[in-house]
Amino acid sequence: MSFCIAIDGPAAAGKGTISKAVAAHFDMPHLDTGLLYRVVGARMLAGLDPIEAAQTLDPADFDRDDLRTPAVAQAASKVAALPEVRAALVDFQRSFARRAGGAVLDGRDIGTVICPDAEAKLYVTASDQVRAERRYLELTEKGQSVTRDQVLADLQERDRRDQSRATAPLKPAEDAVVLDTSQMTIDQAVAAAIAHIQSRRLA
Ligand code: C5P
Repeated sequence: MSFCIAIDGPAAAGKGTISKAVAAHFDMPHLDTGLLYRVVGARMLAGLDPIEAAQTLDPADFDRDDLRTPAVAQAASKVAALPEVRAALVDFQRSFARRAGGAVLDGRDIGTVICPDAEAKLYVTASDQVRAERRYLELTEKGQSVTRDQVLADLQERDRRDQSRATAPLKPAEDAVVLDTSQMTIDQAVAAAIAHIQSRRLA
C-alpha cells in the first residue's frame, strides 16, 4: 500500500532534516525534489538549455559537488519557473510518491501539484532570520565563503521567485499542517512532524 508524505516549505526551513528523520522513522525512501531542480540549474550554468537538461537528466549529475552552492540554488529557482522544466520532472516524482510501502518527498509543490492526494502534508516554515542563520552555518561549515547578509538576500530572492511564479508556486496546500520551526530544536520539529504523520496513518 502506498502512503505519500508531502513536506513543503521555503528554503532552509528545516524540510531536509525533518524529511530524512521522518523517512528513517517510518522506514520509507526519501526524495529531495529540490535536487532535481538544482541539477537542471547546474546544467544550465554549464551551458545547456534548461528544458533539454530537464528532459535528459543523468544520474551521474546527482554526484556533482557544486549542487549545494548559492549560485546553483539561484539557477535552480530560475529553471523551476519554466513550465516545461517542471513538466519534465512530474512523472518521476509521482511514481516515487506512489511507491508501495510509502515515500517521503520534500519540495515546494508536493502537496499542491505532485501529490495533491498525499495522505500526510506538512508545510515547514521559519522566520527569515532563523532560516538565514541556519543556512549561513551550514554553508560556512562546508567551507564556503558567504556573509549572513548575502545568505539572507539569497533566500528572500528565491522565496519571492518561488512564490510568485505562475506554475506550481510555493504555498501551503489547503489541507497541510503548518509547522513553524523558528522556536523549535531539530528534535522538537521532528517529533511534531512524526506525531502528525502518525495521526494520519491511524486515521
Ligand atoms: O529545496 P531546494 O532549496 O534545494 O530547492 C532549490 C530550488 O528548486 C527552489 O528554490 C525552487 O525554486 C525549486 N524547487 C521547486 N519545486 C520543488 C523543489 C524545489 O520549484 N518541488
